[in-house]
Amino acid sequence: EAEESGFAANYWDYFWDGTSITLLISAVSVLVGLILGFILALMRLSKSLVLKGLATAYVEFVRGTPLLIQVMFIYFASGLVVNLPALAAGIIAVSLNSGAYIAEIIRGGINSVNKGQEEAARSLGMSKKEAMRHIIFPQAVKNIWPALGNEFITIIKESSIVSVIGVGELIFQTRVVRSISFQGILPLFVAMLIYFALTFTLTKLLNFYEGRMNHD
Ligand code: ARG
Repeated sequence: EAEESGFAANYWDYFWDGTSITLLISAVSVLVGLILGFILALMRLSKSLVLKGLATAYVEFVRGTPLLIQVMFIYFASGLVVNLPALAAGIIAVSLNSGAYIAEIIRGGINSVNKGQEEAARSLGMSKKEAMRHIIFPQAVKNIWPALGNEFITIIKESSIVSVIGVGELIFQTRVVRSISFQGILPLFVAMLIYFALTFTLTKLLNFYEGRMNHD
């Protein structure tokens, strides 16, 4: 009886640490991915065939290979040169992965703006760059922002893959709790509830801000 009610209290630290690391990996990766994705999207929109080709190849390759292998590859291949901690390797791999997906989000957001907007801006005498900066991009942001929120939610769930290189995020800690508590099922359920609390909260926040953005 005492043990039963003590489960959460006994293993709280593990779940807390795991949740913190999951959130850390996700937040940093989406932030770095946003910068990388922005650069990749600009490269794909540029006139230079070389930049375009490089960015396209990167995006296609990253999206066409499993995150699982990317994480293992970054960790073990970097190990030949430097001794990166698993957490750093995990964050780098997830960031590089997310950047490719975010590039597509940004490109899609820009493409979704009506072609007439650019024509109108150009006919008012704006350069291509000015039209992009002052007319197209501000409208694109309305489509980009919610999709970025979804990417964050995806990364919260998918970052669990870094547990394979021993990063102590939520799934890793759940495995630890399963083995030290001799409880096979309860820790899994607790982890699911934590993931759901995180993603559901984010979904609600996103809906709230999306609603407000569509008012102005
Ligand atoms: N499970 C997929 C994979 O392994 C997800 C990749 C990450 N997705 C993302 N939106 N960043 O390829």
